[in-house]
Amino acid sequence: MNLTYEMIHDENIECCRDLCNELMAFQKSKSYIKPELFDNMNFDTRMIPSIKRALYNYTVVVKDDDKIVGYVYSNISPKETYSNEFATFFDPSSVSKKNAGCLSQFYIKEEYRQYGVGSILFDMSMMWLKQFDDVEDYFIFVSNGNHNALEFYKRKGFFVSHDILDGFITVLRNSEK
Ligand SMILES: CC(C)(COP(=O)(O)OP(=O)(O)OC[C@H]1O[C@@H](n2cnc3c(N)ncnc32)[C@H](O)[C@@H]1OP(=O)(O)O)[C@@H](O)C(=O)NCCC(=O)NCCS
Repeated sequence: MNLTYEMIHDENIECCRDLCNELMAFQKSKSYIKPELFDNMNFDTRMIPSIKRALYNYTVVVKDDDKIVGYVYSNISPKETYSNEFATFFDPSSVSKKNAGCLSQFYIKEEYRQYGVGSILFDMSMMWLKQFDDVEDYFIFVSNGNHNALEFYKRKGFFVSHDILDGFITVLRNSEK
C-alpha cells in the first residue's frame, strides 16, 4: 500500500461520486429500519446539495497510488439547515452558536479498513471542524444497523444523543464545552 491523503476542493468533488454511492449501498445493506429510504440517496441527491448548502466544506480522500480508496466529508452549516422536510436532526436551541459542525460522510473500501486510515481521516476532520470559533457543537448521523461505525465514533469521544425517524438514524454529538 502506498497511501496518501489529499484535500479535495468543492469543484472537484465529482471524484467522490463512486465511493459516495458505495457508502449509500453499504448503509442500506446494514439497515433494518426503513432501508428503502436509501433508494433515493446517492451522490447527486446527498453530496452535491449538502456541499451547496453548507457554509464551509472539507473533503479528504485517501489514495493508494492513484486510486481513491476512501474519503471523509465534513461541513459547517447554519443550525437551521438541520430542520428540513426530511427530518429535524436536532433541536436548534440545544446548539449554543449559530452554526453546527458535522462529520457527514465517511467511507473506506473494505480491504483498507482496520489499518488506522479511518482514525487519520477522523482526526483530520476534527482538527478542521475545531478551528471555527463560532462552532461549539459537532454532529455525526449514523444509520441503523451500522454498529461498527457507532462504536468507532463512541471510542473517539462522541456520545449518542437521540434517535430520529423511528430509529432510522442515531444522532451522535460532541461539544467543546
Ligand atoms: C468506520 C470506518 C470509516 C473506520 O475506518 P477504519 O480505517 O477501519 O478505522 P481504523 O482502522 O482507524 O480503526 C478501526 C479499528 O482498527 C483498529 N486499528 C487501527 N490500526 C490498526 C492496525 N494497524 N492494526 C490493527 N488494528 C488497527 C483500531 O484500533 C480500531 O479498533 P477499534 O474499532 O476497536 O477501536 C470504516 O470502517 C468504514 O469505512 N466503514 C464502512 C462505512 C461506514 O460505516 N461509514 C460510516 C458511516 S456513518
